[in-house]
Amino acid sequence: MSKVTVVGAGNVGATCANVLVTTQVSDEVVLIDIKEGLSEGKAMDINQTVNILGLETRLTGVTNDYEKTAGSDVVVITSGIPRKPGMTREELIGVNAGIVKSVTENILKYSPNAVIVCVSNPMDTMTYLIHKTSGLPKNRIIGMGGALDSARFKYFLSNALGANPTEVEGIVIGGHGDTTMIPLTRFAAYRGVPATNYLDADTLAKVAADTMVGGATLTKLLGTSAWYAPGAASAQVVAAVLHNEKKLISCSALLDGEYGEKDLCIGVPCILGKNGIEKIVEFPLNDAEKEAFAASAAAVRKTNAALASAL
Ligand code: NAI
Ligand code: 2OP
Repeated sequence: MSKVTVVGAGNVGATCANVLVTTQVSDEVVLIDIKEGLSEGKAMDINQTVNILGLETRLTGVTNDYEKTAGSDVVVITSGIPRKPGMTREELIGVNAGIVKSVTENILKYSPNAVIVCVSNPMDTMTYLIHKTSGLPKNRIIGMGGALDSARFKYFLSNALGANPTEVEGIVIGGHGDTTMIPLTRFAAYRGVPATNYLDADTLAKVAADTMVGGATLTKLLGTSAWYAPGAASAQVVAAVLHNEKKLISCSALLDGEYGEKDLCIGVPCILGKNGIEKIVEFPLNDAEKEAFAASAAAVRKTNAALASAL
């Protein structure tokens, strides 16, 4: 029996739970939130789709009762506040650091062997915080940001190419921030052929720029940050771990020399399987890409420095 817990029954957490149920990723899903009744209500609503859609996954909503999360194989942390128009992800650190730290402690009390997927922002820093405070082996802590940013990259790429979105390849590495993420346009492809064969430099630069502000664009339109693609991207990471898929997905991982960095969580191509991050794949970056990665790492490090005063 597989079991997944999603912490935070807000926009992203509830959407993630809904995708986990509708795609039947796990036998059991628990949705937990601090707000009285919210998880129970969302779970009841989602469970009422089960007979319509003919689904087997069972979802339970609970208010702050971590005993019910016991024995989870994977835990997704989405609890915390989202950004509002004009805010950066980094501005959320003060509130979210305390929430992520206490949630992680509660989770590990009942699911000591779980793989943890961190979604709460600023995500790279929250992932680093979990590393620093939990003592878990590094493979068991995954930051979800690159999966979403890469999905946005492929969306803008497929629009520019006039192609089916499922037939384009693209990956975003670096920090999960408007100015820190790095859409690797040189590695973007359409059915194995480099996108540079079809799109001129200006068009590719616009695809990259649209990707980088993808979250901010949606926050401006919606009045809060997005949730459908973030929820689905979180579920994609859960499925890769739970089903031992060995898929290559960009995730925030603790680096120990890879890409020239140490003691930092940042987006890199990772092979995900039952042990969490099973391998970090080193892409052959050129000098400009290496420089962009180093700058991104420096920016993430600067946000990490704020952790000391946030806790
Ligand atoms: P939301 O406000 O809709 O939901 C957050 C939920 O967390 C609320 O229901 C709240 O009651 C709950 N919560 C707060 N403290 C809690 C605690 N101690 N224990 C359990 N639950 C608690 O926010 P939304 O839109 O779902 O976003 C959640 C987080 O995910 C934000 O930090 C947001 O910035 C981040 N995010 C990250 C993305 C990524 O790619 N990494 C993408 C989208 C959002
Ligand atoms: C997003 O990228 C704000 O991290 C959130 O939509």
